[in-house]
Amino acid sequence: MTRHFLRDDDLTPAEQKTVLELGLALRADRYAERPLEGPRAVAFITDKPTLRTQVSFAAGIAELGGFPLIVDGNLAQIGVRESIADTTRVLDRQVAAIVWRTFGQERIEEMAAASRVPVVNALTDQFHPCQILADLLTVAQHRGLESLPGTTFAYVGDAANNMGSSYLLGGVTAGLHVRIAGPEGYLPDAGVVARAREIAATTGGSVTVTTSAKEAVAGADVVATDTWVSMGDEAQAEERAKPFWDYQVNAELLAVAAPDALVLHCLPAYRGKEITAEVIDGPQSVVFDEAENRLHAQKALLAWLLGQG
Ligand code: NVA
Repeated sequence: MTRHFLRDDDLTPAEQKTVLELGLALRADRYAERPLEGPRAVAFITDKPTLRTQVSFAAGIAELGGFPLIVDGNLAQIGVRESIADTTRVLDRQVAAIVWRTFGQERIEEMAAASRVPVVNALTDQFHPCQILADLLTVAQHRGLESLPGTTFAYVGDAANNMGSSYLLGGVTAGLHVRIAGPEGYLPDAGVVARAREIAATTGGSVTVTTSAKEAVAGADVVATDTWVSMGDEAQAEERAKPFWDYQVNAELLAVAAPDALVLHCLPAYRGKEITAEVIDGPQSVVFDEAENRLHAQKALLAWLLGQG
């Protein structure tokens, strides 16, 4: 059966670990896996702005021996000029996999349902699962893969966005204690929290949702944040300017974390808003390792998906 990666819990804990192991191996030897030799094409379609995601997928597909076929979603107009299912039936005869950044999660689910090749979520409004693989790989790079279960991971800021949901699902899959803090009105979806608790019960992880940034960060091994205004939320930029100030990752907040806590941010970062320059440019920040790890994690994911079924 064709496997897809649409949300973080599409990988079981054992499968996620296999992908992370492969990611570490590819960090050490970039050309160790060549499943796309031929070259076979992989379509990368984006309906939203992108830099890291496009570059890391394109470079990664090339390093796997393949050809990255970049499709501008504004030209393709998937679901507008032609149905998602018809688009998929055209694509899956010509490419080995489809990577899509789009708006609603239901769009990528519809594509996967019609696709005979793996479909990968390169960010939707609801989830950003490739980023979480890269973040877990970054913690593994610095602390070892075996350290992941039991690691205390705090995410503060817009807890209702795609990063909050993906940290919940992907984090507990790795056995992390995931603590999520955001203001009222910007807390995670109850269904995602329930699903994360269900997974945590099988991996030894746990879930804490709170409105207190300090409670989330106290003693944490990893502290992460993200923009307060995600792609698609721009019209609300003004109303979002206020509720998040108590959730800024600054020196005062980081002081309550473990003394050697790692700082993550998926980028792009807005210094002086969700994170201060002092913290993101400081010694505990590993954000550029994290950006590089998009490449290694996604290559591992594609190699693994292509090896299934
Ligand atoms: N939450 C952000 C992540 C950017 C990588 C957004 O969706 O814009």
